[in-house]
Amino acid sequence: MIPDQPARYYTILGGESQAAAGQRLARPTGRSIILIEGDHSMPILDNQTLDFVSNSADQTERLGVRLGELVRPADLICLEGELGSGKTCLARGISRGWGSVRSATSPTFSLIQEYPRASDGQRLFHIDCYRLQGPADALAIGLEDVLDCHGVVMIEWPERILSILPPDRLWVTLRWVADSKRGLCFEANGQRTQELLAAFRRSAFGVR
Ligand SMILES: Nc1ncnc2c1ncn2[C@@H]1O[C@H](COP(=O)(O)OP(=O)(O)O)[C@@H](O)[C@H]1O
Ligand SMILES: [Mg+2]
Repeated sequence: MIPDQPARYYTILGGESQAAAGQRLARPTGRSIILIEGDHSMPILDNQTLDFVSNSADQTERLGVRLGELVRPADLICLEGELGSGKTCLARGISRGWGSVRSATSPTFSLIQEYPRASDGQRLFHIDCYRLQGPADALAIGLEDVLDCHGVVMIEWPERILSILPPDRLWVTLRWVADSKRGLCFEANGQRTQELLAAFRRSAFGVR
């Protein structure tokens, strides 16, 4: 369950199990992190970062729905993580929340999938860079045009084409924790994505 009313703030002290209430801890990046107690979840956050452990594919998808409801044209969401970490699962939720009538599947074989929205014709793109060797390949498949066309863009394996990505992006790092648990860390890298992350935090976790 995503908590509606996170009750208390905790700091991570060497790991989730040793969290102590009311303190902050500086990360290596210099940013502090705060862990919010949740039902079965533990989001960690500051203005640029939100970290969360999802307990099921369903929960990851629902989290994606919350995010998808808030994205706007030209928003870029990067999904980094090993195979099976839940990138496509989260992307499916985002596309649902955004209003795609078609369910997002893995674009591994088509590289770029486009999801038009019935209500207003806006477009959302889902791109998989797994098979790309680098930015030159991305240019060859027309990825720059997609990034320029004012649609919402979700990219799996974005680290392969980092140099051509716009700087203001929401970077989601997914990690395998256990069979049905995945860690999801959201990092905003610019003004727009900080706004998006703040709205997402309010919507998904009830935190201001
Ligand atoms: N908490 C979770 N969040 C997301 N996926 C999960 C979770 N627990 C188990 N899974 C499973 O992990 C797999 C994730 O697959 P997928 O989203 O295609 O990963 P990726 O796109 O990163 O390769 C799915 O089979 C999903 O059911
Ligand atoms: Mg995938």
